[in-house]
Amino acid sequence: MAEAHIVQQGATPAAAGWEPRIIAFLCYWCSYTGADAAGTARLKYPPNVDIIRVMCSGRIDPELITTAFAHGADGVMVCGCHIGDCHYISGNHKTMARMPLLKRTLVDLGIEPDRFVHEWVSAAEGEKFARLVREVTERVRRLGPLGWPQRMRERGVGCGMSLEPWGA
Ligand code: FES
Repeated sequence: MAEAHIVQQGATPAAAGWEPRIIAFLCYWCSYTGADAAGTARLKYPPNVDIIRVMCSGRIDPELITTAFAHGADGVMVCGCHIGDCHYISGNHKTMARMPLLKRTLVDLGIEPDRFVHEWVSAAEGEKFARLVREVTERVRRLGPLGWPQRMRERGVGCGMSLEPWGA
């Protein structure tokens, strides 16, 4: 209930022609290859996603995600190999532990949970990747622009905290 209240207060009107900007952090060995498979199979998904390739989803520090939001992302995706398939053995176990905590923290920082998605995507799951991008883009489109630094200032979240390191 409180979450819905926060979300409503933070709604930013979308300017004409606004398009959601989604940043996707993909692990090299599975999810990036899955995205590549989607392209090779000519599966259609919205062009709203900018892909950042990392060697392992375990490399994705939560700070990378908050930085993406602070720099203008309206939504963020994190994708890695399925459990048991990580090329660095336990990298995705770290991801699995971090991401639910991060999601809860994002809510405290005024970011709707639907703006953040964490999923496992294998090299063979091009269709899953394309579907995820379609779903996330539509969800974020319904939420509207995030404008996170401004939203934080308006709410007095992190009073006195400098947003400079995040480009705000
Ligand atoms: S190599 Fe893909 S999650 Fe670790």
